[in-house]
Amino acid sequence: MQSDAILDEALRAIEVASNEDELQQLRVRYLGRKSPLTALLRGLGQLPKEERAPAGAAVNRAKQSVEQALDERAAALRSEKESAIADTEWFDLSLPPPPRLQGHRHPITILEGELDHLFRGMGYRVVEGPWVEDEFHNFDGLNIPESHPARDSWDTFWLSDGNVLRTHTSPVQIRAMRRFGAPLRAIFPGRVFRNEAVDATHEAVFNQLEGLVIDKHITPGHLFHSINAILSEILNEDVTTRFRPGFFPFTEPSFECDILRDGSWMELCGMGMVHPHVLRAGGIDPEEYTGFAFGLGIDRLALMRWGIDDIRWMNSGDLRFLEQF
Ligand code: PHE
Repeated sequence: MQSDAILDEALRAIEVASNEDELQQLRVRYLGRKSPLTALLRGLGQLPKEERAPAGAAVNRAKQSVEQALDERAAALRSEKESAIADTEWFDLSLPPPPRLQGHRHPITILEGELDHLFRGMGYRVVEGPWVEDEFHNFDGLNIPESHPARDSWDTFWLSDGNVLRTHTSPVQIRAMRRFGAPLRAIFPGRVFRNEAVDATHEAVFNQLEGLVIDKHITPGHLFHSINAILSEILNEDVTTRFRPGFFPFTEPSFECDILRDGSWMELCGMGMVHPHVLRAGGIDPEEYTGFAFGLGIDRLALMRWGIDDIRWMNSGDLRFLEQF
């Protein structure tokens, strides 16, 4: 029968249609006004009377079959497309989120924060001074006149305007004395600069923490006790220290403090009783007040605290180093 042949052809075409557009074209071709099935229906009138009904029924069945095949193929194409998306565009909601990159505080910052906390607890105020200093605050006011050979012991970066990058935090002693007067109890943390060769134990840019206590009847005993207490607190152990006579133009007498680490002495801190000239430069009467001062190397303290073998790591900016803190 003719309608069966058309139906076969239509079903085969539908089976291999690969997208919605092709299916739409097939729908038009086999079910539209110009389709051969429609032509068959139109031609029914020419058939002998008794053949009309069964022929008409056969064409209608064929049309329904085409319709159904088109719908099924469309559904199959849709689900193929969806499962392809599921293969490529899925994400796993149970996965933990990707790690967020997090910054780390620099060991010097960590230590400065702890020192800050520790000293505030003992009634010290925290004062900062400028990195670019004038000759008076860095040298002359600290009893280091231009002719004094001790100037050479600070390898100085001189600026073209006659100022210097401060070679120590001691200039802040004078600034603080002038600003707050006596009695005074203060620390001055910060960066200092020395024009010297860099190696595993020396940096040109490093950090000090200066301490200054001025009051009536202050003695070296106060100084030694304070230093031991502070170091023990920061290094979290009972430290063994030794105090040697030293020389600084701005303290008299002067001492060097060494700390015992793994069987050897490590130089950590210069200190002494504030020189009368320096008290006067700060506007304080040395007949009425005495005081002590110390200058602690924060970088060295950090090396000990974390067992770091080379001071150059501090300014390296190396993430392998920084991410450990
Ligand atoms: N300013 C000295 C230095 O940098 C350290 C120091 C500070 C010594 C205070 C005595 C008193 O070497």
